[in-house]
Amino acid sequence: MILIDGKKVAAELREELKQEVSELKAKHNKAPGLTVILIGDMVPSQIYVRMKEKAANEVGLKSEVIRYPEAVEEKAVLNKIEELNKDESVSGILVQLPLPKHIDKQKVIETIAPAKDVDGFHPINVGNLSSGYESTIPCTPLGCYLLIKKFEKNLSGKNAVVVGRSNLNGKPMTQLLLKENCTVTITHSKTKDLKGECLKADIIVAAVGIPELVKGDWVKKDTIVIDVGINKTDKGIVGDVAFDEVSKVAKAITPVPGGVGPMTIACLLKNTIECFKRLNSQN
Ligand code: GUN
Repeated sequence: MILIDGKKVAAELREELKQEVSELKAKHNKAPGLTVILIGDMVPSQIYVRMKEKAANEVGLKSEVIRYPEAVEEKAVLNKIEELNKDESVSGILVQLPLPKHIDKQKVIETIAPAKDVDGFHPINVGNLSSGYESTIPCTPLGCYLLIKKFEKNLSGKNAVVVGRSNLNGKPMTQLLLKENCTVTITHSKTKDLKGECLKADIIVAAVGIPELVKGDWVKKDTIVIDVGINKTDKGIVGDVAFDEVSKVAKAITPVPGGVGPMTIACLLKNTIECFKRLNSQN
């Protein structure tokens, strides 16, 4: 079994991005800028945003976090996004999810200029990805994709099973695997025989948010298993894959933590740089 070391791959990617940022700064006389909007004081969101800010600074991006209290009015957030859309020093805008209930998530996402949507959540980016056009690809599925490709260059004809159909992970992951000519099965809570589907898979991407759902006897011996889950349990943080069992069977597997997580953040930096390059491509 091979342990797919996301921490190491992410560190290599950050090193490449750092180099690229320094070249872009020399060429354009300004750094790509990432602005994160954080609403409320939910601890996981605070931690994620701090990690994003730190990583952005490390590769030389201009990074800013705008914090609002939980009770902020939706209009104030939308106005700020409009302002950032026009601000030439901002290449990427990210509004950390989840949002308080009184704020309409879709309205917020649709207010972000598609060219600055580093999450790839805007319907324009979602549509472009599903049509096979250039788009910003959501950070977590992009991270999974890069890990799979690092391990296996040719995915053509492989059976890929995506467990989970979320807009953040499952659906964009499916698009990326389709583009690589995989035969993709997208499974979810109503799937009749999840174990049977997983047993047909050459690649499993588990992004469902159920602790240790994918078991050792669900996986063939030559399968690559990518675990997107981060679940808090009595025994600590575990993924959506029963690591101890599955790692005895699978060809390769990502650990939790240290697998997909670090790649998500590195891909956010990558997306910010891509947005900067597209925004500055005419001059
Ligand atoms: N909350 C958890 N994951 C994400 C993500 O990828 N993007 C944003 N904006 N919020 C999140």
